Amino acid sequence: MRILMIAGNWKMNTTVSEAVKLVNEMRQGLDEIANVDKVVCPPFVSLAAVKEIIKGSSIKLGAQNLYFEEKGAYTGEISPLMLADLCEYVIIGHSERRQYFHEAGDIVNKKVRAALKVELKPILCVGERLEENEAGRTEEVVAEQLRSSLAGIDSLGDLTIAYEPIWAIGTGRAATGRWADETIGFIRRSITKLYTESVAQGIRILYGGSVTADNATEFMEQPEIDGALVGGASLKAEQFLSIIKQTSEARGRLSS
Ligand code: 13P
Repeated sequence: MRILMIAGNWKMNTTVSEAVKLVNEMRQGLDEIANVDKVVCPPFVSLAAVKEIIKGSSIKLGAQNLYFEEKGAYTGEISPLMLADLCEYVIIGHSERRQYFHEAGDIVNKKVRAALKVELKPILCVGERLEENEAGRTEEVVAEQLRSSLAGIDSLGDLTIAYEPIWAIGTGRAATGRWADETIGFIRRSITKLYTESVAQGIRILYGGSVTADNATEFMEQPEIDGALVGGASLKAEQFLSIIKQTSEARGRLSS
């Protein structure tokens, strides 16, 4: 059975001291929950400080982005080698990067390759816009994002996929558990087509988009959903902890 994962994407929030305070508030509670992978993804500038605090705990660390070159004259960018030293996971292809920083499939593809090369574990995001959803084009859009992001990559390593419908991100309008489950089922079938059934069965696919302590159980009880990528609610220790507790309990029920 796949181990469920809850990852908190803090986005461009928290100063270093706020990040330290937040992770200190979460540390003990998160560490007590054993059957879920717990990942926090603070801004780059806080990675080193957060890493110190979670040392010796079961909490894992991720970055929110990377550049695909290893080093050189790329002012302001952060390389895979720099991150491999600091953290285990990296979010790639988030819709905010696709939208505001014009990262199309070819860039996302280079970033996934660059992460895998240094054994960082990518959390690859896909998801459709509202217009695409309303036009019934979700599967077509998501299949194309998967195809372009993974083109020519033979081995996915420990890659996780996050299905984040753009209309659900930061809007308070989460997808239903059923919609997310069906779309994630489609994503898994797409991975079978691109790779093999066993690769598809082994890969974790998360849901993201307005997940809170009030709706987490609805998602975690779905058989295809392997966890969540949480934005806003991951900035509140109590909410994030509640989401992880609900995930742990749902996993207990699913496996019994
Ligand atoms: P929200 O949980 O704030 O909707 O954000 C989801 C997201 O984009 C996580 O990457």
